[in-house]
Amino acid sequence: MNTAINYDAHRATPDARYGYQVFTIGSFSFTRDEYFVRVSYPKGTYVSDVGLFLRAMMRDVAWGFFYGWVNFDDVFGTVNHYGSVDVFVGSYNAGYQSAGTDFCERFDANKLYDCFHALLSDWTNEGFDPFAAPLETGSPYGSKHGNNDAAVNFQRELAERFVGSPGDTELRTDARGFTVNRQFADVPQDEPEVHTEPGFEGQLSAFNLFAYLSRSPVTWNPSIASVVGQSAYCPTSEEHMLPILHGNDRVEWFIQLSDEITWQVADKATAAPRAMITMKAGDIAAMPADISHRGFSPKRSMLLVWENMTPGLEERYGSGELAPTAAEF
Ligand code: PHB
Ligand code: FE
Repeated sequence: MNTAINYDAHRATPDARYGYQVFTIGSFSFTRDEYFVRVSYPKGTYVSDVGLFLRAMMRDVAWGFFYGWVNFDDVFGTVNHYGSVDVFVGSYNAGYQSAGTDFCERFDANKLYDCFHALLSDWTNEGFDPFAAPLETGSPYGSKHGNNDAAVNFQRELAERFVGSPGDTELRTDARGFTVNRQFADVPQDEPEVHTEPGFEGQLSAFNLFAYLSRSPVTWNPSIASVVGQSAYCPTSEEHMLPILHGNDRVEWFIQLSDEITWQVADKATAAPRAMITMKAGDIAAMPADISHRGFSPKRSMLLVWENMTPGLEERYGSGELAPTAAEF
């Protein structure tokens, strides 16, 4: 695999047929019509539904290419090298590998981000929110009409301090206009009572995480509610399906907080199916470092994603120094 980094900026040229721009970076060019995206690359053309593509692109952009692999489907995606990023077609798909139609090019992360962000902004029409559940937003299809930059630029929430402590950012409260989601109408909204020992006033706090999550306006977009050392607690509210197949570069933990999610697990290198797992409220899973996974949530549910942000873990798992599973039995 060629690991030279391409530092070129993207180009955007108008396409009179449907009103969208055509984006070119390195050897790739991205074109959209009313229903589909077409990605031309030196060994062929990849085609996908533009709604699926924009939902996946939204996560790739919002998460800064995330941990490891962001597979838009079994064929197209990105790999984060933390500073540079691979864009690939078929490089982790046994069929493309054997046909020799796989292709991968490495880009400077900032240059690729600028390209993908510009594409997402130009290709997202008024009334379509790529972060929303399909039942809560309009259609992605048709010729270009307006935009939805308010949705496309939604920032995930980061607590300044432990939520509820003096000086926190008051995440998702009535005051900030976040209302309880239609599917979480039964979630109690009362906050815990905190009784502090003398001398510790203002240092102790607690909050109702279920109430917080019941007000999430987005799906499949982990916020960060606490960071302790390299441990990040990323709670999220999920409905319909995870728009990407995440290929791990480290072990990642899931704690199902409410309802249920079915996970489709595949081999990271070949996309061969490995398991289907249904997690119900209270179930905990450690997703191995050598798989990809996609979640399906038939009703809005609450999930805690627990990430180990220790720098260099990707190399230690990638080299085989660390076993891909959290425990061996
Ligand atoms: C994951 O890939 O592990 C993931 C991403 C977003 C979510 C949940 C899980 O909302
Ligand atoms: Fe994941």
